[in-house]
Amino acid sequence: MSNSSLELAGKNIVLGLSGGIAAYKAAELCRAMVKEGASVQVVMTEAAEHFMTKVTMQALSGRQVFGSQWDDTAVRVNGEGIANNMPHINLTRGADAIVIAPCSADFMAKLLHGRADELLSLMCLARPIAEVPLILAPAMNREMWANPATQRNVAQLKQDGNTVLDVGEGDQACGEVGDGRMLEADEILADLIAFFTPKSLLGQKVLITAGPTYEAIDPVRGITNLSSGKMGFAIARAAYEAGADVTLIAGPVSLSTPRGVKRVDVKSAHNMMLAAVKYADYATIFIASAAVADWRPTNPADQKLKKDGTGDVPQLSFVENPDILATIAQSERGKKGLSGMPDGLFCVGFAAESQDLLVNAQAKRIRKGVPLLVGNIGPATFGQDDNALLLVDAKSVKELTRASKRELAKQLVADIAARLGQSA
Ligand code: CTP
Repeated sequence: MSNSSLELAGKNIVLGLSGGIAAYKAAELCRAMVKEGASVQVVMTEAAEHFMTKVTMQALSGRQVFGSQWDDTAVRVNGEGIANNMPHINLTRGADAIVIAPCSADFMAKLLHGRADELLSLMCLARPIAEVPLILAPAMNREMWANPATQRNVAQLKQDGNTVLDVGEGDQACGEVGDGRMLEADEILADLIAFFTPKSLLGQKVLITAGPTYEAIDPVRGITNLSSGKMGFAIARAAYEAGADVTLIAGPVSLSTPRGVKRVDVKSAHNMMLAAVKYADYATIFIASAAVADWRPTNPADQKLKKDGTGDVPQLSFVENPDILATIAQSERGKKGLSGMPDGLFCVGFAAESQDLLVNAQAKRIRKGVPLLVGNIGPATFGQDDNALLLVDAKSVKELTRASKRELAKQLVADIAARLGQSA
């Protein structure tokens, strides 16, 4: 049964393994794809079988694993057709993608020349090129990766319309250190999910603020809030998947950076303001999801404040922080964005309220001068994995009902793309 909330629901993916020590990661990748709702058909080269057994891959995929072009038992990957001794045809028709992980240097060289002397390369050549994209996850020693022959092959394979994923960097199985490692299974999975996402924000440059800010009282103490940054990080991920170039300005949070997103870490509202103003110049969309502290201590102490034994407590005074969203929204490009002009900056504000969400969100939209305000109930969402949103513009109100922040982020991105007249 297909569950549409799974990221790869309904996808038929051929997972091809060529020879390389990274084959162990293919086991995890297979499991992760199946968990996300994909049907995975594994095909292995003879070299791959030196590193991973068919038994393991069969158990993880729940399907017979193929390795020979002479196999007469293969039917089509979507379960249709008959076994007619043509595995190279049957295993590619109905597939949504062929993913080669690991893809060795030798296998890339074979693909480049259209060689077809074993099942996996034969399948790549025989696949309907317009319907079955080929995605390669290279895996090799750093010298092999850096070799001009490999780099030439990578460039040509990309030019031929194939997707070549990045390589990882660091310790290699051979003991050397450098570029060429295969990405981890979760990274390949994220790249695959992005690959299948409609590119509704292609060409857009999205700037996002996320998380809380931290306002120092002294070198060891400060004031912050309960924002986890999860919503903003989810929006950054969804915007990247939709094809945007994404910069994420993050307050102090413990979240990992979504793949493909440029992250700028800041602490205080002042730092966040400086970074946001700088990057807003290059952006076409600005989404202010950060829970920026409204006030900061007037004079943070250089040294730790100490008790003096009298029982007196320090008297703190506060000044108001700059309003990042209002500043950017009221810039020349922000104003153009508000009136829908093409070279404007489309600003999206958030409102974290504790009551009267609609009234407060409508008032805040006008006060900040933004075309779109996203309201949510702060105490019900801070730190949680789910949320409910209210999208308020000048004419209408739209409710995004309670769902995971991941799901809501995708819906919000689709909504913004539609407002900008972009749909995939
Ligand atoms: N915001 C900002 N800079 C600030 C305060 C808020 O950029 N100094 C942005 C937030 O990122 C959010 C929106 O403004 O997009 C509204 O934030 P919120 O905290 O809900 O509102 P405030 O402006 O602080 O108003 P109030 O505290 O009175 O509700």
